[in-house]
Amino acid sequence: MAEPPQSLQVAILGCGSMGTSLLEGFLRKQTSSRPLSLRLAGCTRSQPSIDRVRQRLGDQADRVELGYGDASGEMAEKSEIVILGCPKEDLTAALKTTKPGPRFADKTIVSLMAGLSADQLQKELTSSGAPQNTAIVIVIPSFAARTGGSVSLLASPSTVSQERIDIVTQLFEQVGSVLHVDEGLLMKGVAIGAACHALAVTAVDSIADAGVCEGVPRPLAGAFAAQFLRSAAGAMVDGMSPEQLKAALSTPKGITLNAVVDLDKAGARGAVIGAARGAVRYAESM
Ligand SMILES: NC(=O)c1ccc[n+]([C@@H]2O[C@H](COP(=O)([O-])OP(=O)(O)OC[C@H]3O[C@@H](n4cnc5c(N)ncnc54)[C@H](OP(=O)(O)O)[C@@H]3O)[C@@H](O)[C@H]2O)c1
Repeated sequence: MAEPPQSLQVAILGCGSMGTSLLEGFLRKQTSSRPLSLRLAGCTRSQPSIDRVRQRLGDQADRVELGYGDASGEMAEKSEIVILGCPKEDLTAALKTTKPGPRFADKTIVSLMAGLSADQLQKELTSSGAPQNTAIVIVIPSFAARTGGSVSLLASPSTVSQERIDIVTQLFEQVGSVLHVDEGLLMKGVAIGAACHALAVTAVDSIADAGVCEGVPRPLAGAFAAQFLRSAAGAMVDGMSPEQLKAALSTPKGITLNAVVDLDKAGARGAVIGAARGAVRYAESM
């Protein structure tokens, strides 16, 4: 008989755009091969924001303990995993309300804050009274967490135990896939993810326009573009290289290779490389 899923208490301190997406993702019917039984709490700075979270969660809202302001201290107290979901600029104020103290010793602190290193976070935590060697894991999920399609980048200092990294990995597997990276590569990964999203938006939008120009109804043209992009990306996620995919699609006088040549003529490759390198430089300057 299969073992029952492990139970885990999780608090998200800062349920804005990303924190609420995570709640939505955690509340979906779980499809992960390593499901967890989650007890969830979520906190914002202000009452109106909690009303917004409640509205977004709809009939699932009762499955989450929601609060604002000072409620974050008690939520953190009883949780094994504390997710910090505020912008890094608001961290000092948020910690003043949460008052971490020595009780953070037995918790795993997950930071969603892009651009804040584990060292910087440790300093902030230490000045709020948390222990010097708090277990910190940085996870940068993507917006599709709410529908189970996140690609979450995970990095942690070498001092964090494998057991803690495993449970955080398992938690974020509930909302998609998890890629482990060295902290030094984290922001490059975030930027490449952002460039991919930008490219997908531009590609689907422009191919839909082209489809409409050539007589395909817009909803169908957009659906074609998104589904075929997913199909090509899926083949490469499953291990096919871009060269193998191109070769597989290159029948003599074929439509695909002619389209590749047209894209090359229009400078698409150079534009994509420029945008992705620009995104990396921008992310690293944050
Ligand atoms: N959005 C993304 O796609 C994304 C992706 C990966 C990582 N991240 C990271 O996730 C973090 C949040 O981003 P976001 O886009 O979700 O921002 P957001 O929509 O502005 O949400 C921020 C949340 O933090 C809360 N907050 C701010 N100060 C607080 C305080 N002193 N005490 C308690 N709660 C406080 C806010 O509460 P109020 O609403 O009441 O002010 C709000 O719920 C950032 O660090 C970002 O780098 C975001």
